[in-house]
Amino acid sequence: MLVYRPIRQRTQRLLLSFLLIAAWETGSSQVHYSLPEEAKHGTFVGRIAQDLGLELAELVPRLFRVASKGRGDLLEVNLQNGILFVNSRIDREELCGRSAECSIHLEVIVDRPLQVFHVEVEVKDINDNPPVFSVSEQKLSIYESRPLDTRFPLEGASDADIGENAMLTYRLSPNDFFTLDIINKKDKGKFPVLVLRKLLDREENPQLQLLLTATDGGKPELTGFVTLLILVLDANDNAPLFDRSVYEVKMYENSANQTLVIWLNASDVDEGINKEIIYSFSSLVPPSTRRKFLMNESTGEIRVNDAIDFEDSNTYEIHVEVTDKGNPPMVGHCTVLVEILDENDNSPEVVVTSLALPVREDAQVGTVIALISVSDRDSGANGQVTCSLTPHVPFKLVSTFKNYYSLVLDSALDRESLENYEVVVTARDAGSPSLSATASVSVEVADVNDNAPAFAQPEYTVLVKENNPPGCHIFTVSARDADAQENALVSYSLVERRVGERALSSYVSVHAESGKVYALQPLDHEELELLQFQVSARDAGVPPLGSNVTLQVFVLDENDNAPALLPPGSGGGAGALSQLVARSVGAGHVVAKVRAVDADSGYNAWLSYELQPAAGGARSPFRVGLYTGEISTTRALDEADAPRQRLLVLVKDHGEPALTATATVLLSLEDSGQAPKASSRASTGAAGAEAALVDVNVYLIIAICAVSSLLVLTLLLYTALRCSAPPSEGACGPGKPTLVCSSAVGSWSYSQQRRQRVCSGEGPPKADLMAFSPSLTPCPLPDVEVEEQSAGGSHLSKDGNYSIHPEHIQ
Ligand SMILES: *[C@@H]1O[C@H](CO)[C@@H](O)[C@H](O)[C@H]1NC(C)=O
Ligand SMILES: *[C@@H]1O[C@H](CO)[C@@H](O)[C@H](O)[C@H]1NC(C)=O
Ligand SMILES: *[C@@H]1O[C@H](CO)[C@@H](O)[C@H](O)[C@H]1NC(C)=O
Ligand SMILES: *[C@@H]1O[C@H](CO)[C@@H](O)[C@H](O)[C@H]1NC(C)=O
Repeated sequence: MLVYRPIRQRTQRLLLSFLLIAAWETGSSQVHYSLPEEAKHGTFVGRIAQDLGLELAELVPRLFRVASKGRGDLLEVNLQNGILFVNSRIDREELCGRSAECSIHLEVIVDRPLQVFHVEVEVKDINDNPPVFSVSEQKLSIYESRPLDTRFPLEGASDADIGENAMLTYRLSPNDFFTLDIINKKDKGKFPVLVLRKLLDREENPQLQLLLTATDGGKPELTGFVTLLILVLDANDNAPLFDRSVYEVKMYENSANQTLVIWLNASDVDEGINKEIIYSFSSLVPPSTRRKFLMNESTGEIRVNDAIDFEDSNTYEIHVEVTDKGNPPMVGHCTVLVEILDENDNSPEVVVTSLALPVREDAQVGTVIALISVSDRDSGANGQVTCSLTPHVPFKLVSTFKNYYSLVLDSALDRESLENYEVVVTARDAGSPSLSATASVSVEVADVNDNAPAFAQPEYTVLVKENNPPGCHIFTVSARDADAQENALVSYSLVERRVGERALSSYVSVHAESGKVYALQPLDHEELELLQFQVSARDAGVPPLGSNVTLQVFVLDENDNAPALLPPGSGGGAGALSQLVARSVGAGHVVAKVRAVDADSGYNAWLSYELQPAAGGARSPFRVGLYTGEISTTRALDEADAPRQRLLVLVKDHGEPALTATATVLLSLEDSGQAPKASSRASTGAAGAEAALVDVNVYLIIAICAVSSLLVLTLLLYTALRCSAPPSEGACGPGKPTLVCSSAVGSWSYSQQRRQRVCSGEGPPKADLMAFSPSLTPCPLPDVEVEEQSAGGSHLSKDGNYSIHPEHIQ
């Protein structure tokens, strides 16, 4: 065999070599060798001398030499054995680059004769170059948002070898995300392409490290590696998140402005701007809630921004959104449930809803007067209200239903004692501190005609001077009615009765409204001393109530009757009193008596007698007893006295002015000692039986004395009982309508007992009654025993009231 055949030579190459050799052997003289690159020094290439037909011995003499263009030292010939061997390392890639054919052309020259042989040494490729990537690490930035099947072309590897040895296959380290696709480009080989098979997630795998292996087709195969560093770029694929979807917060109402409600913290796993978040209220949040709370967009703090009132709303549902700044932005949601806790910030309210006012004073106990409802906007204990009432009112609260009360009458009412109640209803809640409210109900008590008109006294005594003008006002009755309006509208009327032959109404009348009592005609003391009647007062209520008052009208005497001389005999007739007087009677002998009466009473009927001085101025031996009317001698009669004496006796009452009558007494003096027979003739002609007559004046004085002491006593009693009573009124009298007065000479008065006795009869004896007007100046009564200013006298004070002086009472 001429051809050196390396041990591991492919059969194809072998065939080719044979073909070449055969061609050279037959067609040309060219010798062709084949040599794998990278053969070791000394590697046998071929027996060149022999193949060129040269003898080994002639090699040296013929100066056998090999010349190669520039590459002479790669191969060398052993001149001893004519073998071409590898002198230094032959790198095909260095020699020929990537050209498919690579051979070393040798010129073998021998001299003598000079011959040139051409030898081709083909350098065969061996797989001595691994695939090589340009960088050891290839960085790829891929958005996590890239869709599946996105292709990312990669830089392929290169292999300096040729042919099979440069036939690269690629392999990717196992991973979930990418597969490898190979693109065959014409003439340019294969290129690997990454194909996204699973979506990337930066948040899960921010970067991937893959190994791309390129393997050539040599035997043994060689591989090259590149690290693929895949940086997953962030896409805004994550919404900001809250750690809970619902937050529950409790806070008290009335929290201060800017109080922190909750601090929300959302997070976004994205990066950069995709991570920047803004908090806001959702559009679902109603404006009312928006007003109450303020969201800090950047921090997520929700703070109070307005008054929070439990009574407005006790929960708030705040939907919060958090948005990142990515494009497109993503939104996260949560809900904040704010529960507002109650504080006792509302006072109870009291509403008086219905009133049955005014309340009749005769309303039954238990009558509902008003309905009261209380309320408190707070809740729980803060809204629990208890009601109370002002103490000491005749009402009570009855709870009808929760928070509803009735104000009912608890005890009887009396408008006359209190006609208006200010009832204060106090409502107090159970909060701490508790709040309260009050409502005032003014309960007016309506009048019911339950009070009859009342006179201050059951009886009034009225003094009226006789001979009053007709129609004069003698008294005013007045009854008070404690009721109101028409129930207190009093009208007066006379309680009719008969007075003697006549009706009471012919004497007096009462004005219905004013209560003024008028005397309709002049009264005559001598005819009627006491007029007793009743005045009735009635109110205008329905039914009306009434009461009576008794009026005792005393007709006061005036001196309207002159003294009347009584005739000496019962036969009557006017004329002088004639009397025989014995001359022998001594001094002081009563010779005659003038009798007179006066129809008036009291002072007006109290007669005194005076002797008119004789016409001749002669000194008369007679005198008249001042009050007795007895004519007596002043001295013993003597002859000088005229046998016929004519005495004029002036009879005078004590009225003001005094009325007089003159009695003429004729005395005939007789010398005989016989007892005188009196015969007299009244000059005025008064009638009356002398036998029946008593000396009126004497009785009168006795009566005055007896009565006055009794009256003083009764007067004391009377004034003590009545001292506070209003004075009665009498318009017709010249002075105050005084019942009782005292004078310098004694007390002259009516007494209660006295009057009753007097009033029972129509015609009382004149001597029983003495009355006078206080303006009357009484005459001194020296002969009459009268107690001077008896102890405990009553005095009339200037305003007409009675007063009792304590020092007199003791
Ligand atoms: C949010 O973060 C702040 C500050 O770290 C913290 O005070 C607050 O309680 C957090 N909010 C929530 C709802 O966890
Ligand atoms: C939000 O809070 C920050 C930090 O506390 C503050 O500087 C900023 O003024 C607040 N923004 C608003 C609108 O209150
Ligand atoms: C609460 O404070 C904010 C900001 O200081 C202000 O705008 C708002 O009017 C206040 N609200 C009340 C009820 O005072
Ligand atoms: C008043 O007097 C009249 C007549 O006497 C009598 O009918 C009437 O009942 C009396 N009224 C009263 C309240 O006493």
